[in-house]
Amino acid sequence: SADRSRIDALINHHRQQPGALLPLLHAVQDALGFIPQEAVPRIAAALNLSRAEVHGVITYYHHFRSKPAGRHVVQICRAEACQACGADALLAQAEQLLGCKAHETRADGAVTLEPVYCLGLCASSPAMQLNERPYARVTPQQLQRLAQSLGV
Ligand code: FES
Repeated sequence: SADRSRIDALINHHRQQPGALLPLLHAVQDALGFIPQEAVPRIAAALNLSRAEVHGVITYYHHFRSKPAGRHVVQICRAEACQACGADALLAQAEQLLGCKAHETRADGAVTLEPVYCLGLCASSPAMQLNERPYARVTPQQLQRLAQSLGV
């Protein structure tokens, strides 16, 4: 498949590099939007790692997805500074407005909701991203407007 040859090209590009695993995983996710299950054994073999090691790294870093994301990706920061400024309530509101739970994609594929851990906007928390665009000092009203703008 096309995905398979893209994955192989990325593996070949990164395999000689020391500490190749993380840069390679980032490259695969940047290219495909997620890291397909079928990539894990290929990456493991190329880097002389076990499948369990590769899988462990993918699940350890919240950044990596094992499934394709929805058409829109809403990310709510849950790291410390944002927690202190109401991130939990924001996430709960997002779940309700978007009709999907954290870590999930709506059944119609419209939205994926993801907790993330620090967007570098701690001084202006709580923070979130919509389709990679950051928003700081997010209020419930603003979240509602952003959710409405998705038309879901
Ligand atoms: Fe949320 Fe840093 S803790 S942006």
